[in-house]
Amino acid sequence: MSNYHIKHLEEYYQVYRKSVRNPTAFWEEIAEEHFMWRKKWDNVLSWDFSKPEVKWFEGAKLNITENCIDRHLFTRGDKTAIIFEPNSPDEEALHISYKELHKRVYKFANVLKNNNIKKGDRVCIYLPMIPELAVAVLACARIGAIHSVVFAGFSSNALATRINDCDCKMVITSDGSYRGAKTLDLKSIVDDALENCPDVESVLVAKRINSEINMVDKRDQWLQPLLEEASSDCEPEIMDAEDPLFILYTSGSTGTPKGMVHSTAGYMVYSAYTFKNVFQYREPDVYWCTADIGWITGHSYIVYGPLCNGATTVMFEGVPNYPDFGRFWEIVEKHKVNQFYTAPTAIRALAKEGISHLEKHDLSSLKVLGTVGEPINEEAWHWYDDNVGKKKAPIVDTWWQTETGGIMITPLAFCTPTKPTYATLPFIGIQPALMDADGNELEGNQVDGNLCIKFPWPSMARTIWGNHQRYKDTYFSAYENKYFTGDGALRDEVGYYRITGRVDDVIIVSGHNLGTAPIEDAINEHPAVAESAIVGFPHEIKGNALYGYITLKDTGEGRIHDNLRKEINQLITDQIGPIAKLDKMQFTQGLPKTRSGKIMRRILRKIAEGDTSNLGDTSTLLNPEVVESIIEGKK
Ligand code: WT7
Repeated sequence: MSNYHIKHLEEYYQVYRKSVRNPTAFWEEIAEEHFMWRKKWDNVLSWDFSKPEVKWFEGAKLNITENCIDRHLFTRGDKTAIIFEPNSPDEEALHISYKELHKRVYKFANVLKNNNIKKGDRVCIYLPMIPELAVAVLACARIGAIHSVVFAGFSSNALATRINDCDCKMVITSDGSYRGAKTLDLKSIVDDALENCPDVESVLVAKRINSEINMVDKRDQWLQPLLEEASSDCEPEIMDAEDPLFILYTSGSTGTPKGMVHSTAGYMVYSAYTFKNVFQYREPDVYWCTADIGWITGHSYIVYGPLCNGATTVMFEGVPNYPDFGRFWEIVEKHKVNQFYTAPTAIRALAKEGISHLEKHDLSSLKVLGTVGEPINEEAWHWYDDNVGKKKAPIVDTWWQTETGGIMITPLAFCTPTKPTYATLPFIGIQPALMDADGNELEGNQVDGNLCIKFPWPSMARTIWGNHQRYKDTYFSAYENKYFTGDGALRDEVGYYRITGRVDDVIIVSGHNLGTAPIEDAINEHPAVAESAIVGFPHEIKGNALYGYITLKDTGEGRIHDNLRKEINQLITDQIGPIAKLDKMQFTQGLPKTRSGKIMRRILRKIAEGDTSNLGDTSTLLNPEVVESIIEGKK
């Protein structure tokens, strides 16, 4: 039996038990037999959640790109590593072999070096889903620079915040990007951001849309000519197991975005091992994850996990509805995709269009379907199962987080019997716990509580960049000696987990994690606004949409004009990005508060959902009369 590739349910249980009984022996074997090391570790694991401090494979030396690229050159040199599918179906797809990827990454790595980037430097990557994005990520890893990819839908303000937080020396971007029928001027967004980023020394610009752009002398350079001149030989920087590999920002319920820091060896082992088993990838399968590399899903399951396994991974530049809603299925047919991994919001949007688009395409290559990002509702699950998988392709509902680095609770395709809306069982090595409000672990099945993890796993984030205290406070303080996920979950009679959603003030809109605080801050910048509170409410396609309760400085209905709504959404777009715009705005006389001045979001949430039957005891509020006026105002 190979512990690396689990093939049926019984084997899952056996390997799971092993991984929990003796985690160090288990992970040592996986690491030793399936990866390339320059030097083995001195110690598999040391940990202390009270600090918190976690170290995996301490003392080991490696470079993750040797695992993603070099080691495949003899056996898979001509195999396609990346299929690039452009935004427009009229533009030809690009097949990049492992050999070609090798050349591109090493040239790019030399360009970074030639521009004064060294091990440990932070490099911000703000690119659309073009091959340069994956190549830039790997080039950073090759030379030990820490990449910080920022999703290219974020505004210039959001970009500047992220660049400054981890003090990036360089930004890699493009002249622009294609998004369906639209183009976006990425370079001008970068230019705006950099007005507030004094420490950025250089900007590399990939050409994508051939637009006229502004190039700042001594700071900006076109990437392509530099790549042409660069040598394609590049020795890897030899990294320590615990050296940071990347930073990726995620929203918190309060405050600025959190720069989650992921380390090299543990992240590599776990992302590769989960990829293999969750999706049951076998050569020569073609695997496609529709996420953007700007999110953790793209890092772990477009780039690192698949490439570590020598897989063929599809990178799609476009959107699901361009030129029409058949685009995904056209791509599945064209590249004979075997594993397809997407988000519930995309499934719901496609389901709404009916099945005529599906019927035009041959989807018989599909073996496994995946979903991630938010709870999937039963209707969407069945639509996916019936119409895309034709009831023959198991759906892996994968629960995890930016912080966890890899998939945590999930079926293994063909091993774990699936159950709609359930993420099912913990992955190998993962020890979940459900906690009650008093901090007790709920034993047995058929319980409902706050989801924690009791034992370290290799790919957990090690800290928040520049703020270890915040890391401790956010994840390790709610429950002693446990990692707290921020999600609620229930466990059914056979031990399957169903994630019920966030229990904090993070709202997931179309699979994007949004903190309420930065959105409220943006709204409060409007000169007419006194205060605001954002809650989520159910939305047919987005899962959740945003409802804003806004109190104006000088109340009086006359002042609430249409422009005000537009101006508020514009502020949000400028500060965060269009994904955080409000679907509904209600102008209120005040916001319900506790006597200590805390906004009662629970009540606001109920009102937004249209459920005012059970608001609980409002008499202890500072201003109970406000609740009635808000309910009235909503009508
Ligand atoms: C939050 C993490 C992990 C990559 C994408 C999101 C929610 C994620 C599921 C799922 C129910 C899910 C959780 C989690 N979530 N996957 N399969 N079922 N909820 O990463 O932006 O860090 O968001 O997404 O609430 O905490 P992220």
